Amino acid sequence: MNAFFASSTVGFGILDSQLRYTRVNDVLPRMAALQPEDLLGKSVPEVFGIRGSRTETVLRNLLRTGTPLLDREVSTELPRKPGQVRHWLVNYFPIPGETGAFTQVGIITVDVTARRNAEEALRKLSGRLLGIQDQERRRIARELHDSLGQYLAGLKIALELLGGSPSPEKNTELLAECRDILEKSITETRTLSHLLHPPLLDEAGFASAASWFVNGFSQRSGIPVSLDLPPDMPRLSESVEIALFRILQESLTNVHRHSQAPSAEIKVESDAEQITMEITDHGRGMPARVLQQLQGDGTKLGVGLAGMRERVHELGGSFEVTSNQGGTTIRASIPLAVREESQTAGATALG
Ligand SMILES: Nc1ncnc2c1ncn2[C@@H]1O[C@H](COP(=O)(O)OP(=O)(O)OP(=O)(O)O)[C@@H](O)[C@H]1O
Ligand SMILES: [Mg+2]
Repeated sequence: MNAFFASSTVGFGILDSQLRYTRVNDVLPRMAALQPEDLLGKSVPEVFGIRGSRTETVLRNLLRTGTPLLDREVSTELPRKPGQVRHWLVNYFPIPGETGAFTQVGIITVDVTARRNAEEALRKLSGRLLGIQDQERRRIARELHDSLGQYLAGLKIALELLGGSPSPEKNTELLAECRDILEKSITETRTLSHLLHPPLLDEAGFASAASWFVNGFSQRSGIPVSLDLPPDMPRLSESVEIALFRILQESLTNVHRHSQAPSAEIKVESDAEQITMEITDHGRGMPARVLQQLQGDGTKLGVGLAGMRERVHELGGSFEVTSNQGGTTIRASIPLAVREESQTAGATALG
């Protein structure tokens, strides 16, 4: 029994009828950042204050009724460390004395603080991801409205004019216009659909998709971008390829929207262990406010940078931003030997 008490990772204790600790193993006081002598001979309210008084009521009731309290989750501040909260899973059970009445309380406690904190982190992350998803939907909505929506509205007008039996020359002209608008709508739909998820990424991999995107980006934005890929770049896991592609997309979009840079450079390097991508522009650099946010928890960052950082961390990699008046560099390194299970948000929160 002694060895059982001593060698456990579970906190054990026994309280007498006055709810004083008469016996504890080493773990129980350690959970509360206390020594055994801080508990022995003391009552629960003496050790835990107001919180302990509430427990006292519960335990007196337990001694009277003889009904155990199982798997009760308790969150409490450490008695001598204000502000430090621990979460415990506690079982109290009544122990009968010789007369049959209940005279002692047995305590079995497990510290579940790490698990609770991990759950909390996961909840926060899910919240942010939902936010990111929402932003993405708005962007697509805007894109559909501003491009395709405009073309289709134009097409409707042209068709209405056609319906008014115009002269043969006007008729030919309107038909040509309709064909032209339709052509543009088809191109736009393809571009939008490919930007949402480039089929090239699945079929030919990151290198091909990156070249396609960079070319299109340069044409649309007028910003020349050089792309330096390792020769014979191998296919990577799907999650790594998607992450790299999305980071490339967002970084270049940022270059276009914020940097005023005349050009940008992308460099991708890989070895057996990791792949690193650097996107550099020689623009005006990020505002000090953004750089400060990047140093801190980043909760007020735009979705772009925060999303990139989350993606990389989800894959166990590192994400760095260097920026000054001379320009900005985004650097993402992702380990290649990523285990599948560590790619889930849950595992990230736990790690
Ligand atoms: N290459 C860059 N050069 C200069 N400033 C930049 C650059 N990239 C980002 N920034 C600054 O950092 C801010 C945050 O970027 P982030 O991508 O997170 O958000 P955003 O682009 O403003 O919005 P979105 O959430 O749509 O991406 C930008 O508003 C901009 O001020
Ligand atoms: Mg952005």
